Amino acid sequence: MTDLSVRPRCLFVIFGATGDLTKRKLLPAIYQLKLQGQLPDQFAVIATARKEYTDESYREIAKEAVTQYSGSTLKEEIWESLCKQLFYHQLQFDEDDGYAGLKVMLEGLDDQLQTNGNHIFYLAVAPEYFGEISDRIEKFQLINQDRGWYRLMIEKPFGNNLESARELNSDLTRVFREENLYRIDHYLVKEMVRNLMVIRASNQIFEPLWNGDYIDHIEIISMESEGIGLRGRYYDKSGALRDMVQNHLLQMLALTAMEMPDSLSTTKVRTEKVKMLRALIPIDEDQISNQVVLGQYEGYLDEERVKADSPTETFAALKVCLDHPRWRDVPFYLKTGKAVVSKMTQINIQFKRPLGTSYLGDVLQSADPNRLIIKIQPDEGFEVVFNTKKPGTLDSIMPVSMDFCQSCLVEQNTPEAYEKLILDCINGDASSFTHWDELEATWTWIDKITDWAYRNPQEVRTYPKGSEGPEAAEELLKRSKDRDKK
Ligand code: BG6
Repeated sequence: MTDLSVRPRCLFVIFGATGDLTKRKLLPAIYQLKLQGQLPDQFAVIATARKEYTDESYREIAKEAVTQYSGSTLKEEIWESLCKQLFYHQLQFDEDDGYAGLKVMLEGLDDQLQTNGNHIFYLAVAPEYFGEISDRIEKFQLINQDRGWYRLMIEKPFGNNLESARELNSDLTRVFREENLYRIDHYLVKEMVRNLMVIRASNQIFEPLWNGDYIDHIEIISMESEGIGLRGRYYDKSGALRDMVQNHLLQMLALTAMEMPDSLSTTKVRTEKVKMLRALIPIDEDQISNQVVLGQYEGYLDEERVKADSPTETFAALKVCLDHPRWRDVPFYLKTGKAVVSKMTQINIQFKRPLGTSYLGDVLQSADPNRLIIKIQPDEGFEVVFNTKKPGTLDSIMPVSMDFCQSCLVEQNTPEAYEKLILDCINGDASSFTHWDELEATWTWIDKITDWAYRNPQEVRTYPKGSEGPEAAEELLKRSKDRDKK
């Protein structure tokens, strides 16, 4: 654990402080960090939004939010103590008025708390306002290049394609240097996603086999039982490819496939991830329909703020290959969908079948391949599937699994994603945030597929809610299984 005595003191400024994200995620996470004693003493939250509140009246709505969403009973003494560090400033973020006042407030708190000009800005607003806010942060000198440090935390979508991502990036980098941009991908702080490198590095039974000589294929799956809910306005322009594949699934792929860095430094981890993302083999136009299956759940068109004839995909399955010696001939299958049978995220690593040269001869034909299943959610843990002799027989083989259930260890309370994200940012650890190079590589690769999907709306197949998704997705993997039997 980080040494609290050296945890950097800073001011945490939220733009969009009355919105859903702040109420559901940010304030509860800050409260939990306070409860766990993880926040620096010299720390304050400055909540900004358009509505008129005093510090006191904002603290009341903040308390309601924390009570409702923090997942534990509010401890009054902790809340009272946090309240002394929570301030409100009224500001319409796309207008100049209010920024000068914010500067005065930050300077006052900097002096009082000795926070030395260290400022984190969290933009809990729609991405179209990112540029406007960062320009004003500069214009009104809320950051001082010669004093302290400053960081910007933002949420996706980081563009809708490579071109718009570049525009957004150039808006932000006018003011913030790349190393000060903390682009959130909340999958990167999921406990088992963080565990991936440890599982690989600390188990000699896996890492030497982590390549195409021993691995047949890898599946990266993230399914959801819920539909799009009330997010139609955003989702209908996004779809599963942009909403889940371009970021979360490709990030999990990068962490699974990358060469192991020789340290956990932000730069080393990112460098290895970027190499793998750049190794994604572009899918040829005439192969896309063989390697990509798209679907839309029945009833999607009736969702609020969805176009009546929308071809937006709510399901995507893809066969992906990497141009890298470690992964030659190893397909990665990515699959994600909404309104399917259950919520589940996991990575399945399927090893090759045992060679039929032992004394077991043909019996091995019936043996299952070994599998390592990394369970990310809802259960956290991993499972290894081995083969053993069926009791009472001499040469019959049956698979057995060894299952480690991390979430069953009741005393270990997995911290919420936003707690980890905020703490990492305070500590200046950007290894679980997305670098521009990763965005550029993933958008470059996926743009071809989204363009193809746009031109071929007939490729989007409907599937019943609560099903496994379109049958054609199963076919994709089956083709690989057939290959395996040959
Ligand atoms: C978000 C997507 O990034 O991730 C949502 O925008 C999706 O559409 C969510 O539902 C899934 O996150 P999790 O943590 O519930 O798997």
